[in-house]
Amino acid sequence: MKKKALHKRTVEAVRGIDFEVKPGEIYGLLGPNGAGKTTTLRCISTLMRPTAGTVEVGGLNTVSAGERVRERISFLTNDLKLDEHFSPDFTMKFFGELRQMSPKAIEERKDVLFEALRITGFKNQPIKEFSTGMRQKLAIAVSLLHDPEVVVFDEPTNGLDVITARTVTELLLAMKQDKKTILVSTHEMSVAEGLCDRIGILISGSLVMEGTLEHILKTTGTRSLADAFFWLYKEYGGENG
Ligand SMILES: Nc1ncnc2c1ncn2[C@@H]1O[C@H](COP(=O)(O)OP(=O)(O)OP(=O)(O)O)[C@@H](O)[C@H]1O
Ligand SMILES: [Mg+2]
Repeated sequence: MKKKALHKRTVEAVRGIDFEVKPGEIYGLLGPNGAGKTTTLRCISTLMRPTAGTVEVGGLNTVSAGERVRERISFLTNDLKLDEHFSPDFTMKFFGELRQMSPKAIEERKDVLFEALRITGFKNQPIKEFSTGMRQKLAIAVSLLHDPEVVVFDEPTNGLDVITARTVTELLLAMKQDKKTILVSTHEMSVAEGLCDRIGILISGSLVMEGTLEHILKTTGTRSLADAFFWLYKEYGGENG
């Protein structure tokens, strides 16, 4: 019996995006659903190959030096599936061993991250009993286990209450002090306004504006990032191009 061939469809998710994030900087990508934020972050994190153009992380090409890029980068994504039967403690050991870290290094890093993210209190509980916020905090700890220079977080505060979100933004600010290079995507205007040194606005796969909050407000003649965002969405046609 012949198998029916699947029709392969190509989707152009992003085009002509050009931006740079420096050590000690937090860059925020903002854009409506389907704008191409996750696609952009996946290309940077070596999970996808750009069909054209190049992406460099710390001077390394993400395609030709993918392995070395992965050692230097942390990618937080909603796709990470944690084993429901594991505890945070075991999960960190598991991922630390996969990353070939020494038991001592795993323990030290685990303690630092569990304290910073307030995971210590439930570090031996099975993940299947966790709320959304507890899972998200653990996913963040896992992604930062190897203390990477470059941090790429896709919607890090998604589904978090204000207190938990503050824990995460404080951690990002501490990493900024440590001169990490930080790129986040978010739908939350307050996160972008309060956290990011520069903001890039992505609409229908194109980076339509970037700069400091002040620059974006001045250029769009608006008084809040939400207003600027709506203004740009109308100006650049949103989904209907
Ligand atoms: N695996 C896939 N196959 C086909 N199309 C895809 C795939 N993943 C994403 N796309 C398309 O690429 C475009 C960009 O998607 P992407 O996930 O990057 O958007 P996003 O900005 O992260 O949106 P959201 O805010 O909803 O997370 C969308 O049009 C989407 O339909
Ligand atoms: Mg996304």
